[in-house]
This record gives sequence, C-alpha cells and structure tokens, in this order.
Amino acid sequence: MSNPIYLALDLPRLDSALALARKVHAHVGGLKLGLEFFCAHGQHGVHEVAKIGLPIFLDLKLHDIPNTVAAAMQAIHVVEPAIVTVHAAGGRAMMEDAKAAAGENTKVVAVTVLTSLDDADLARIGVPDDATAQALRLADLAQEAGLDGVVCSGHEVAAIHRRWKHGFLVVPGLRPAASGASGDQKRIVTPRAARDAGASVLVIGRPISRAEDPVAAARAIEGTL
Ligand code: C5P
Repeated sequence: MSNPIYLALDLPRLDSALALARKVHAHVGGLKLGLEFFCAHGQHGVHEVAKIGLPIFLDLKLHDIPNTVAAAMQAIHVVEPAIVTVHAAGGRAMMEDAKAAAGENTKVVAVTVLTSLDDADLARIGVPDDATAQALRLADLAQEAGLDGVVCSGHEVAAIHRRWKHGFLVVPGLRPAASGASGDQKRIVTPRAARDAGASVLVIGRPISRAEDPVAAARAIEGTL
C-alpha cells in the first residue's frame, strides 16, 4: 500500500517549504500546494517542489464558468499534478469540462462544502439544507459529472464511501491522537479513523509542519496507518 499522507506545504516562503518537504519526503506519499502557494510562487514554485520526486496535489479549488476552468486545467498540465481540486458548486458542466481538460494522470476532485461554513452561512447563500446533506448532494453531482472523487471531512467520509465505492476521497482536518491530548475527543478524527472509513488521501499540515521534529511526527502518523 502506498503512503496516503499528503503533506500540506502551507508555508509562505518557498525555501522553507522546500526544506520541510525534503526533510520529510520519505515519510509522506505526496505534497499539497494550495492557492496561497500558487499565487505567490506560480508554476516555477510547483516545479521546484516537484523536483523532490513526490506526487503533487494542486489545491486550487477552481470555480468559474466551464470554459475558464477548462482553460485553467490545460494551463496547469505542464506541472503534471497528480490531484487538482475544483468546487462542486460550479455545477455539473463545469466539472465535466474540468475533467475533460485535465491530463490523463491527473485526478480531479471536487470540494463539497467548505468546513468554514456552518448551517447559518449556508442559509444566507440560499442553501436550505444542513452542511452534511449539502455535501452528500454535491458528492453525488461530482460522481455524475465523472470526477474522480471529492474532498470531505472525516465525519462525512464513511457516508460518501458507501455511496461512491470507487470514489477517490481526500480528507483534510485530521489530528493524530497524541498521547495526553485533551479536549473534546469526539471531534477528533485521526488519520487512522479516516483511512478506515474509506479515505484515499489524508491531508496533514500543521501536525507535521509545526511539530518540533517534523520527521518524527510524520513517522509516528505513518506508523498508525
Ligand atoms: O489543519 P492542517 O494544517 O492539517 O490542514 C492541512 C490542509 O488542509 C490545509 O491546507 C487546509 O487548507 C486544509 N483543511 C481543509 N479543511 C479543514 C482543515 C484543513 O481543507 N477542515
């Protein structure tokens, strides 16, 4: 089994991001670069990170008219990302065109509902259902559109996995159950629990990048899987 951990390189400086990625590269399966990284460092930055030799996840969360999103997908072919994100709320045609424009080896996955939105926020943008119901609806739409999978929280991954057996499910927002960790245990989704529930990729950032010893942290998480 290949390592499902994608390290989120959410560091503002390219040299710091490269240093961290080089340090932990043997203990993660891929590297996730977000919108912030891409806006700051562009394709040059992606190429530099790609030299480390791990698959690249470009988390750009594209959301525009189908033609524009398809053109953006074509423009990023050159960096050969393994995974790219679009917003499911862009609609079925946008997702279909994004997939059609993506490289053969690029998985296109849809963001369902941002975890920064609660039910009240959804109501204010005209969505009457709660976040879970909306996430399941958008996951179904992504499946119909022929995407490879979705990004979802550790709390929804089991339900989506039941509806989409071969869906490529990307789960962020994970916290290792570190010994002595206090707080509301019920809200913690561990990498292992997400994996057992059907996650294909585990996105992990700060538990590794802000650890005193990032290599030890990555190895410890890897050891739980
Ligand atoms: O919290 P952590 O640093 O592990 O987050 C890793 C990545 O996952 C970040 O790039 C963040 O944007 C993303 N994330 C997310 N949804 C969450 C939590 C984190 O998309 N609920």
